[in-house]
Amino acid sequence: MMRLATVQFCPVHGDLDANTDLIVETIAQTEADVIVFPELATSGYFFVTREESGGIAEPLTGPHITRIINTAKAHGRFVVCGFAERDGEHLYNSAVIAGPNIETQVYRKTHLFYKETLCFDEGNTGFFVINLPHLDCNLGVMICYDWRFPESARTLALKGADVIACPSNLVTHIWRMAMPVRALENKVYLAVANRYGTESNGDEDVTFNGQSVIYSYNGDILASADAVGTITLITEIDPSSTRNKTFNSINDIFADRRPHQY
Ligand code: ACM
Repeated sequence: MMRLATVQFCPVHGDLDANTDLIVETIAQTEADVIVFPELATSGYFFVTREESGGIAEPLTGPHITRIINTAKAHGRFVVCGFAERDGEHLYNSAVIAGPNIETQVYRKTHLFYKETLCFDEGNTGFFVINLPHLDCNLGVMICYDWRFPESARTLALKGADVIACPSNLVTHIWRMAMPVRALENKVYLAVANRYGTESNGDEDVTFNGQSVIYSYNGDILASADAVGTITLITEIDPSSTRNKTFNSINDIFADRRPHQY
């Protein structure tokens, strides 16, 4: 068994110090094995030019991400946290995956949403799974709008993910119809850490709709948050219970796939 947490909060646009303070305090205080923070949690979301996103992006070795990595390791917790990443001339909407006894890794968002296309490069890491040895858990990450593409969660599940962490800044409501299906159709746990609040850029506002949620592998809601508020959800899960993909004596949702017909 392991404890899986999501953290919902309202990042301050452009204030990496304040957001990182909140993130590291939350890591220290949250009694969980895996803690998922929202997309672009260190910086806020609504940047519309590369100049703006470049102004807050940092490499994986940058000071704010380093604090988050060190805090995760010091407290023996695995953390998935969205941040704006700089790699040379490239800017990515990324998530760091860090914790004790694993090599720190970064997932770069594959499917960019709306004006992210103006200020980030398309992610080039692809979808991958990290084994968290002492938890017997295989963890995969997708970011927000990646949910729209069933291939994201399916790829992670085919690579062996038991749990998918989904750092998010969701602005629509339709995701609540599809996200439990991503869990059900792949038989994986799915943790959606969404943010709340409104951000403005020029004369345009975007409002994020909170309602962070942890789904069981059958699509059931294990824990959920209100639309507004700083809220940490914690659930106890058994990652190994996702691995048998049969649902009767004959059918197996992975063995029954017929990729040559697709
Ligand atoms: C989104 O991908 N932030 C909607």
